[in-house]
Amino acid sequence: MSELRTLFSRQQIAARVAGLGQQISMDFAGESVVLVGVLKGAAIFLSDLARQLDLDATFDFISVSSYGNQKKNSGEVKLLKDVDQSMQGKNVILVEDILDTGLTISYLKDMILAHHPKAFRIVALLDKKCRRQQPIQADYVGFEISDEFVVGYGMDHAERYRNLPDICVLP
Ligand code: IMP
Ligand code: MG
Repeated sequence: MSELRTLFSRQQIAARVAGLGQQISMDFAGESVVLVGVLKGAAIFLSDLARQLDLDATFDFISVSSYGNQKKNSGEVKLLKDVDQSMQGKNVILVEDILDTGLTISYLKDMILAHHPKAFRIVALLDKKCRRQQPIQADYVGFEISDEFVVGYGMDHAERYRNLPDICVLP
């Protein structure tokens, strides 16, 4: 693993996730929220973010196919697992690891809005703004990054590296 360069250390990630948690807790003070994690990349981020929320929170998970084992996005989004509960009337926070072209989140946003939630917000740990193909933005962003392929803290390349505690750049 010596070829990997650290982009954000575990300490930097923890500090930023705590900040996001505070912000979301203020915005939804006194309300309940449903955190909808996009499997598998957002699993670690969701579990850390959830513990920084001073709110009544439940979890749900959704799964879509995107990259397969390639570094490039096929442009096709396929739903592999839907949410378990209806999102109707709920404060839904979609939790994603990376907002890249925006295809995945645009698809999921339309899908969740069709449930008629009370509120809908997107939180993305990383935002590759320069790569966007769909006009979509996250309401909460951890870090904006340039066009580099990153792994660790839940994010993979061909399913590897998800368990790295730091976010690293794959050359
Ligand atoms: P989008 O539909 O292009 O926005 O794709 C977003 C998804 O692609 C994210 O949820 C990630 O799973 C994956 N992805 C995009 N960039 C990276 C990366 O640099 N490393 C790992 N996964 C990535
Ligand atoms: Mg993902």
